[in-house]
Amino acid sequence: MMHTNPHVNPVIVASENGRAGATVAMELLRRGGCAIDAAELAARVTEDDPQEHSVGFSGLPNLLGQVELDASLMNGRTLETGAVAGVQDYGNVISLARAVMDELPHVLLVGRGAERFAGEMGQKPADQRTFASLDFWRTRFTETGLELTGAELRHIVTRLTLPLHLEDRVPHGTVNYLVRDAHGDLASAVSTSGHAWKYPGRVGDSPIIGAGNYCDNRYGAVACTGTGELAIRVSTARSLILYLKMGMSLEEAGQECLAEIVQLKPRVGQYMNFVAMTPDGQHRGFSTMAGKKYLYYTGEMAEPSLGERETRR
Ligand code: GLY
Repeated sequence: MMHTNPHVNPVIVASENGRAGATVAMELLRRGGCAIDAAELAARVTEDDPQEHSVGFSGLPNLLGQVELDASLMNGRTLETGAVAGVQDYGNVISLARAVMDELPHVLLVGRGAERFAGEMGQKPADQRTFASLDFWRTRFTETGLELTGAELRHIVTRLTLPLHLEDRVPHGTVNYLVRDAHGDLASAVSTSGHAWKYPGRVGDSPIIGAGNYCDNRYGAVACTGTGELAIRVSTARSLILYLKMGMSLEEAGQECLAEIVQLKPRVGQYMNFVAMTPDGQHRGFSTMAGKKYLYYTGEMAEPSLGERETRR
């Protein structure tokens, strides 16, 4: 939907891998496009990028070598939301989440039902795996002689994939977009292929509204990347919004959410990042790990910039 008479400076806040999507979405916002359309468009651009192995097409597969995608978006003006999880053979899961929001009286579809709905919405099925996304899986999980369909599968998740994450050989991923349009409306979008080499059917925080994504025009928008199990356990996205509602500053609210995650005593290799924006366009990035960055882009800037994420004080 296009607005006329824009009067607020548009803002996009994203995870560090959001540059290409933010650039295209800002063009839409400058033409008067609305926040929810811009958030969906930005995530689609990332999903279509074959070099991005944590989102959409060419995402890293699960333990069985299947790409399973999750996504959600939320409209801060209406509090409407849509989400999908565990989707195979359809790459633009953010648009599928949008269709759930717009076309169904539901908010979350999973697996076969979501794939059926994608077909009904006119999406064409296509293999989302590429040589690059399968390459490491093939060498690590097939040449080691592991029996991937046996009862040992659940043990492999702990014995092999967590150590691989520790070696930092897994591209940690997911993309976040928080958008404020020229009318001051907010929207958020999250898309991911999830935890690389996850147990089949594992769903993280990205499609769970309140955990990996939340947005409310009155208070702000939040989205997460990292080990989704942590954000699910303490409802990070909705909690941060609630702390803002109760009167905390953006910094205080983010620090409180970091403290809640640290109190879970994450396993070695588990971590959480989140980005947040208030209705007046203030933004911050947070992480349980030092040295992490996030991306921001306002209507007055010539191109997106990176900011440091705050860690726990
Ligand atoms: N944060 C993405 C996931 O855990 O699946």
